[in-house]
Amino acid sequence: MKNTKTVLDIQRMKVEGEKIAVLTAYDYPFARLMDLAGIDIILVGDSVGSVVSGYDNTLPVTMDEMIYHTRAVIRGSSSALVVADMPFLSYQIDIVEARRNAGRLIKEAGAQAVKLEGGENVAATIRAIVDMDVPVMGHIGLTPQSIHRMGGYKVQGKEDAQARQLLADARAVEAAGAFALVLEGIPAPLAQTITAGLRIPTIGIGAGVHCDGQVLVIHDILGLCEKYSPKFVKRYADVSGTIGRGIADYIREVKGGAFPGEEHSFK
Ligand code: KIV
Repeated sequence: MKNTKTVLDIQRMKVEGEKIAVLTAYDYPFARLMDLAGIDIILVGDSVGSVVSGYDNTLPVTMDEMIYHTRAVIRGSSSALVVADMPFLSYQIDIVEARRNAGRLIKEAGAQAVKLEGGENVAATIRAIVDMDVPVMGHIGLTPQSIHRMGGYKVQGKEDAQARQLLADARAVEAAGAFALVLEGIPAPLAQTITAGLRIPTIGIGAGVHCDGQVLVIHDILGLCEKYSPKFVKRYADVSGTIGRGIADYIREVKGGAFPGEEHSFK
């Protein structure tokens, strides 16, 4: 039996002033490593489309892909809360489909909660999913599934009207029953105001220091994906360099006859 953190544990962390550490993972080995290191929440993000599948954005990611990656993450984690992203078109069509897809991420993939993007416009959907006892994490601000409306990955909420809308979105997501809220790509003072005004924890990404927790994409912090390098990412390792050197050494040894050695051969 896994001793998994629950949404109640995560909410208690806000009350007790303990910051919530969140990372994305899409497979068994990364989930295992971050679970062992003590991560609070593993998010199986639809960012899998960009950093693993090589798509230009998250829009092509399917439910089947999310279920596949979430299952692998579940097998690698034992104490982190695992939240699975609802991909584009899995919750926008109608509430019945949204409930079915949220349920699939719990029943078929084993996630403990789901995440979906949007504010007032998805409040009824969040409520409908929460009503079937599936915990929902909200996500407002720079929402990557809205890339075409936003005209690119741009900081949101800089103008007063946009900031007011984001405040209303945050309140609507909380009122709809979400257990936590991701604030992505918004000015730090706005994130501070939203965080202070909500009972549920906020998880920031490019939203400054005052959020109740932080989330980053694992490939970004380890230097595994050179495609984008947003200002809000801090790089903690150069895994691409290490992998590149390992592969180059292997190629050189195979071509030079240094590998395999006697010790790698059967008698
Ligand atoms: O898909 C994702 O990884 C996300 C986080 C970056 C918040 O939504």
